[in-house]
Amino acid sequence: MEIIEGNGARIPAVGLGTMTLNGEKGIEAIKTALDVGYRHLDTAAVYDTEKENAAALAASGVKREDVFITTKIRQDDAEPAAFAARLEQSLENLKVKHVDLLLIHWPSKVVPIKDTIGALCKAKKEGKTKHIGLSNFTTALLDEAWNAASEPLACHQIEVHPFINQDKVIAASKKRGMAIVAYCPIARGKIPGAEVLDRIGKQHRKTAAQVSLRYLFQLGLVSIPRSTSRGHLKENIEIFDFKLSDAEMAELKKLNATNMRVVNPPHAPVWDTL
Ligand SMILES: NC(=O)c1ccc[n+]([C@@H]2O[C@H](COP(=O)([O-])OP(=O)(O)OC[C@H]3O[C@@H](n4cnc5c(N)ncnc54)[C@H](OP(=O)(O)O)[C@@H]3O)[C@@H](O)[C@H]2O)c1
Repeated sequence: MEIIEGNGARIPAVGLGTMTLNGEKGIEAIKTALDVGYRHLDTAAVYDTEKENAAALAASGVKREDVFITTKIRQDDAEPAAFAARLEQSLENLKVKHVDLLLIHWPSKVVPIKDTIGALCKAKKEGKTKHIGLSNFTTALLDEAWNAASEPLACHQIEVHPFINQDKVIAASKKRGMAIVAYCPIARGKIPGAEVLDRIGKQHRKTAAQVSLRYLFQLGLVSIPRSTSRGHLKENIEIFDFKLSDAEMAELKKLNATNMRVVNPPHAPVWDTL
C-alpha cells in the first residue's frame, strides 16, 4: 500500500471508512477489508463502530501495530474534560492503548477552538494518539487551530471527490504540511454511472469508483471509501496499477464546477467561498 505523509504521520493512501458498519455485518465488512489488504481504518465516536473495528481486527489475525487507526471526537465533546473522557471511552472501545490519528470531528460553535486544540495536543503528549488533526475546518478556522496548537497537526479530513471544489482548503492545509484525507471519495455512490468517470475507466479497464480514487491519489490525497461488499472493497484498493494522463486529470478536475457537497449538516461551519 502506498503511503502519504503529513507532518510526521505516514498514512496508508486508501483506508476503510467505517461509518454505518455497525453490528455483525459491519464486523464482517471490516474483517473482509483487512483480509484483502486494508491497513487503515477510519472510525469516530459518533459512528458507534469503534467496537466493531476492535472485533474485526481481533478476528483478522492482523497485528494491531500494522494497522493505522483513526478516530474522531465530535463537537458535543469539545470542552477539554469531555474530550478527554470521550477519548478514554474510544480507546476502551477500540481495545488499544493509543490510536494512530485523533481528529476533532467538527469545529465547535460553542467551545473556543484553542480549548479543544489544547485537549487534542494533551492527548498526543500523553501518548494516547501518535498523531493529531482536524476534520471539517474552513481556512479561517484552520488558521486559528494551527496558531493554537503546540503539537504538529498531521492531517485534515474533508469531503473530496471529483464533484466538489475544495481547492482553497486543500491548499491551506498542504501549505502547512498536513496530509488531506478525502472522505466520501466516491460521493456516497454517485460516482458510478457518471459519464466522464465511466468513459475514462473503460480506457484503463477500471471502474468509475477506481478512477475517482486514483484521481484523488494523483492529487496527493488519502481516501477512505466505505463498502460492505468484498468485490468493491478489493476494487477500491486496486488503484495503484494504472495512471491517469494529464488530459484525463484535467477533464476530471473540470467536474468540480458542480460543487456538490454530500455532507452538510446543521452543525457545519460556513464553508469557504470559492
Ligand atoms: N469527517 C467527517 O465528517 C466524515 C463525513 C462523512 C464520512 N466520513 C468518513 O468517510 C468514509 C467514506 O464516506 P461515505 O461512507 O459517506 O461515502 P463513500 O465512501 O463515498 O460511499 C460509500 C457508498 O459507495 C458504495 N461503493 C463503495 N465502493 C464502491 C464501488 N467500488 N463501486 C460502486 N459503489 C461503491 C458503497 O456501497 P457498497 O457497500 O454496496 O459497496 C456505499 O453505498 C465514511 O465511512 C467515514 O469513515 C467522514
